[in-house]
Amino acid sequence: MYVTGQTQGKIFTSLAPMRGLTTRHFMDILYDCGEPDEYISEFLRVHPTATIPTDIIDLIENRKSVADLSIQLLGKEPEHFSRIAKMLQNYKIKSINLNCGCPMPKIGRKGVGGTLLTELNTIDNIISIISNNTNIPISVKTRIGYKSPQEFAIILNHLARHKLSAVYVHARTVKGMYDEPVDFECINVAKATLDCPVIANGDIRTAQEAINIIEKTNADGIMIGRAAISNPWIFRQIGELANKAKIFVPTGEDYFNLIEKLQSFTSELVLTDFQKTSSVKKYVIPIADFVDPLGAFPYCIRRATTPQELMNICKNFFVKK
Ligand SMILES: Cc1cc2nc3c(=O)[nH]c(=O)nc-3n(C[C@H](O)[C@H](O)[C@H](O)COP(=O)(O)O)c2cc1C
Repeated sequence: MYVTGQTQGKIFTSLAPMRGLTTRHFMDILYDCGEPDEYISEFLRVHPTATIPTDIIDLIENRKSVADLSIQLLGKEPEHFSRIAKMLQNYKIKSINLNCGCPMPKIGRKGVGGTLLTELNTIDNIISIISNNTNIPISVKTRIGYKSPQEFAIILNHLARHKLSAVYVHARTVKGMYDEPVDFECINVAKATLDCPVIANGDIRTAQEAINIIEKTNADGIMIGRAAISNPWIFRQIGELANKAKIFVPTGEDYFNLIEKLQSFTSELVLTDFQKTSSVKKYVIPIADFVDPLGAFPYCIRRATTPQELMNICKNFFVKK
């Protein structure tokens, strides 16, 4: 098993794939802040004419990171999964990760992502065809049911038929979107049913919560998404807390430098000022909500219309304060 889980103060950590956010640039930021043990790419759509996009190749080949990378696939046609998987054999990746969790209605209507949980035979067929045609390990990212957590036992029985390198469980149903409470009891059930590593995901916001969830669920590791955007030092902090070391607390200057780096990524893009501002805001709004939940900073960030205005607001908050 390649996942170590909680052994000798080590907690296995994974960055949750987040479309539009977990780019190579963001992974390079995590490289500086303290990396997770692995990354999973945002989803690559599998369809009859799909190939491997250049941004995925760039991620595989040019990221600064030393951590493993899995490539996530989203689709429903086994033969096209097989075709893309064969193409991925040319690259160094840890696993192909099958998306069985995306709850967005426009994705679900196409019968892919979370909707696959209503078509478990399709999941079987996809996993089988990839493993019969390539030697790339396969992992699955799933929710705990489509409509109800009661479906989870059946889902796990299907997954248990296959040799998987890991199962990542976002402990909500597909219909529960992001609103229903996470049900980490399900991680214990997954641990009891599967013989591969089980990684817990959903609403883990601090290093302490990560450690509590490992202790409560016996998970082999934790996966963090949104909290890594608002606090990219979280993986470092988890390592420090697990080792009972002093926990790094970022200063205002650390945050300002981070936002400057995020902003610099947009300067090379051919975009209007407004588009550039929107693309940096995707990161800065979660940061502002995290560092100043009740204050005016998030309000001002939401209203910024140019990169200069956004950077001035950040400077006033983080540096001149
Ligand atoms: C903006 C956004 C984009 C996401 N894109 C993906 C994706 O491409 N593939 C995927 O499996 N999950 C995706 N997710 C779900 C996350 O990977 C994760 O399961 C979810 O956010 C719960 O974890 P968290 O509470 O730590 O954020 C996305 C979530 C967000 C907020």
